[in-house]
Amino acid sequence: MSTHHPSAAIGVFDSGIGGLTVAREIASRFPHEDLLYLGDTARLPYGTKSPETVVRYAHKCVEFLAQQPIKAIVVACNSASAAAVPDLRRSFDVPVLGVIGPGARAAARATQNRRIGVIGTRGTVRSRSYDERLAEISSELQVFSNPAPLLVNLAEEGWVEGEVPQRVVETYLEPLLAESIDTLVLGCTHYPLFKPLIARWFATLERRIALVDSAVALTDELEARLAEDDLLRRDHNGRTLQFYATDDPTRFRDVGRAFFGHELDDVRLVDI
Ligand code: DGL
Repeated sequence: MSTHHPSAAIGVFDSGIGGLTVAREIASRFPHEDLLYLGDTARLPYGTKSPETVVRYAHKCVEFLAQQPIKAIVVACNSASAAAVPDLRRSFDVPVLGVIGPGARAAARATQNRRIGVIGTRGTVRSRSYDERLAEISSELQVFSNPAPLLVNLAEEGWVEGEVPQRVVETYLEPLLAESIDTLVLGCTHYPLFKPLIARWFATLERRIALVDSAVALTDELEARLAEDDLLRRDHNGRTLQFYATDDPTRFRDVGRAFFGHELDDVRLVDI
């Protein structure tokens, strides 16, 4: 039985703006829940940093969120989920959900030939977190990973369609396709923005490749977890969506719109 209250908010943190793809999924699935989002834009990117540094940053973020009335913390950032979730679970008494476990479980359900591709930041790929979660599910699953760091910058530039992103996506994915994967995990907050381009390209290849968006997989598990703890809110109108950034809220608001799919009305600067 949880000691948290259903009226508390869902806390989400990310290294910056990308986690808004996860917040978007949560906000649309739970229209009655308040959301508190922290983007650590001052310390971004996490995906190039050592696990020790990412753990330290993640602690700061969760300490900030845990001071507010929250009932769960979602680590939207794949790089932070890979490096810090076990540590955060030990250190804080609020339920902490990362994106790696749900993404791995969704990939294991989706694959038919047991060959799964994963793209993510260098940090996520180096951590082998997806490989480990998948190996726990079944020793028959084979995982092929490739870091796809340029997609982060392209997404933040709003460059998600056209010749250049197409070429970059193909360069990163061709080695995985050569391994006959039938499932691809989009293991970074920014990659769902390339879903239409990737799906169109895959449709021209004569094979079916399932795309796993960790944001969707995480939201499914968050829903199950909140229901189990009796923490879902079903009838609260006028919910609040509060955003915090550790650097320049104006840029957060401008770039974040495309990730969140709506205007971000209330973005505040915080120093953590
Ligand atoms: N949010 C990060 C992730 O999902 C991408 C950006 C970064 O490297 O901080 O891995």
